[in-house]
Amino acid sequence: MTVKLGLVGTGTVGGGCIDILKSHREDFKRHYGIDVELARVCSRNPEQAIAHGVEDLFTQDYRDILNDPNIDIVIELIGGTTVARDVVLGALRAGKNVVTANKALMATHGEEVMHAAEEAGREIAFEASVGGGIPIIDPMKHSLIANEVSSVMGIVNGTTNYMLTRMVEDGLSYDDALREAQEKGFAEADPSADVDGFDAAAKIAILASIAFNSRVTIGDVHTEGIRSVTTMDLDTARDMGYCVKLLALAHRTPQGIDVRVHPTMLPLSHQLATVNGVYNAIYVTGDAVGETMFFGEGAGAGPAASAVMGDVLEVARHVQQGIGPIVGCTCTDDLPIVPMDE
Ligand code: HSE
Repeated sequence: MTVKLGLVGTGTVGGGCIDILKSHREDFKRHYGIDVELARVCSRNPEQAIAHGVEDLFTQDYRDILNDPNIDIVIELIGGTTVARDVVLGALRAGKNVVTANKALMATHGEEVMHAAEEAGREIAFEASVGGGIPIIDPMKHSLIANEVSSVMGIVNGTTNYMLTRMVEDGLSYDDALREAQEKGFAEADPSADVDGFDAAAKIAILASIAFNSRVTIGDVHTEGIRSVTTMDLDTARDMGYCVKLLALAHRTPQGIDVRVHPTMLPLSHQLATVNGVYNAIYVTGDAVGETMFFGEGAGAGPAASAVMGDVLEVARHVQQGIGPIVGCTCTDDLPIVPMDE
C-alpha cells in the first residue's frame, strides 16, 4: 500500500522534508519496501509551496488535510503551541498518525498529546524535537530502555552554540553572531527562544520526561540564556583555560529531578568543550550502559528533516504492516522536581 502524507508547514524543515522525499522516495521503496507519497501540503505561504514545486498539492487550510480520509500521517512543522496544537490534536482525533518537530508543543502539552494519541490508537513521533539530526529520543525509548537513567545532559541548542563559537573563535559581536545563525536557518522564528534558553529548556524537559518516566514541562526547568554573555567574558574564560557553553542538565537525585539550563564554564579539556558551531552533544548515563554520548548537527534543514523523515518512515512501516501504536513515555514514576534553592 501507499502511505499518504499530509505536510503542514513549508519553512526550513518542511522544505528539507520535501527535498528528501523527492530525492529518496524510490530508494525507500526499493530498500525497505516503504511506499510513501506526499499527498497534500498546507502552508501560510503559497510562494514556499511554489518554490518547492508542490503547488499542485497546496492548501492554505490545514483542515483540508485533517478531513482527507486518504491521509495516514500528518507531519506538523509549523511550530508554536496554538495552531500547531489544534493541528496535532485534530489529526490524532481524526485517526491520523502524527510526526512533529515541535519541542515547545511537546514540552508544554506533551501529556495531552500523548493521551490523545493513546485514545485514538495512533502514533505520535517527535524525534526531531530534540538535537536536530541526532537520534536521541528513539535510542532512549528503545535501545536504552533496560537502564535506570541517572542523568541526561549536554548542548541541545545549535544557535547559541554557533554564536558562542563564532564570538570566541572569530571575535564576532553577539548581534553579528545571531544574524549569521538566523541566515543559516538555525534560529527559531523568534530567536529569543534560543538566546534566552527556552528552546533548550523545552528539549531537556522532553528528554527528562523520557529518561525518568515522569512529567517534566518547560515550566519546571530553571532557565538562564546567553544574552548577558559578552565576547570579553568568553576571552577571559579562555585565558583561564575554560570555555562557556549553554548546557541543559537533568539529574535524578534523592529529592527528585534536578533540571536546568544555564551558561556553564567547562575546562577546555572537557569533551563538550570540543563541540563547536551548530553541533549538539547529549550524554545519557544509565546504570547498565554507563555513559553514552550522542553527537551531531543540532539544527538546520537537512539534519532536522532527516529526523522527521526517519519518524515518517518508521510510522509508515507500522501503517503498512498494520502494527498498532508503540507506547513510549509512560510517566508512571512522576518524580518531583527539585526546587532551585535545594
Ligand atoms: N533553534 C534550534 C537550535 C533549532 O538552534 O537548536 C533546532 O531545534
